[in-house]
Amino acid sequence: MPLEDLEHIAQPAADHGFWIISDEIYSRLDFDGKGVHSIAALPDMLERTIIVDGFSKTYAMTGWRLGYGIMPESLARRVELLLGCTATFTQFVGIQALAADQEMVSNMVEDYKQRRERLVSGLNAIRGISCQLPQGAIYAFPNVSSFNIPVRQIADRILTEAESQCCQVPILGNMVKAISGDALPPQTKRSIPLWNDLIYFSPLISSRPWNHLR
Ligand SMILES: Cc1ncc(COP(=O)(O)O)c(C=O)c1O
Repeated sequence: MPLEDLEHIAQPAADHGFWIISDEIYSRLDFDGKGVHSIAALPDMLERTIIVDGFSKTYAMTGWRLGYGIMPESLARRVELLLGCTATFTQFVGIQALAADQEMVSNMVEDYKQRRERLVSGLNAIRGISCQLPQGAIYAFPNVSSFNIPVRQIADRILTEAESQCCQVPILGNMVKAISGDALPPQTKRSIPLWNDLIYFSPLISSRPWNHLR
């Protein structure tokens, strides 16, 4: 999130004394290397920010349920009372991840970055779709408003007519979130790995449901 947006949020928090929960799980998936700002670093925010983070994105450990929070100690003592313990084998994997050569993370980010270029240019090549280049994380948000069809309906079409690996997650009005096939349970049968397959898949969507929508 741009610094000025964080400042915009931090100001009322400081003025009115409320807390911020900052989910920073994608902070290492920063494609342009510009650095990711944390609201906790803004003046007077450290004592009123709870940072939540985890291993699932940086170390591709989604589903391992291993995460952590960073917060003032007085609050941490309270939060501790609410939490159960993470499985020990998961903790050992977490230690291995932290102790490993972190180049693996940069390599993974580089790989995601190349897939991002291909995915976004593939989407933008489809008539009626415009997609901004995401600066981080693992999602693309193509704008499909030109079809003038409710986004849920578009998502349904992609799912059912293109036999695709996208699943229906409509967000923010006219935007569609294309989600990883492999994030779906295996029994969905539609499940195929994320980015690469979406890219293979883009000619399919350009030829079938998208044309059909016009
Ligand atoms: C913004 C955000 N925060 C947290 C998570 C949680 O990841 P996990 O439950 O795998 O640790 C996700 C996963 O998709 C996410 O997108």
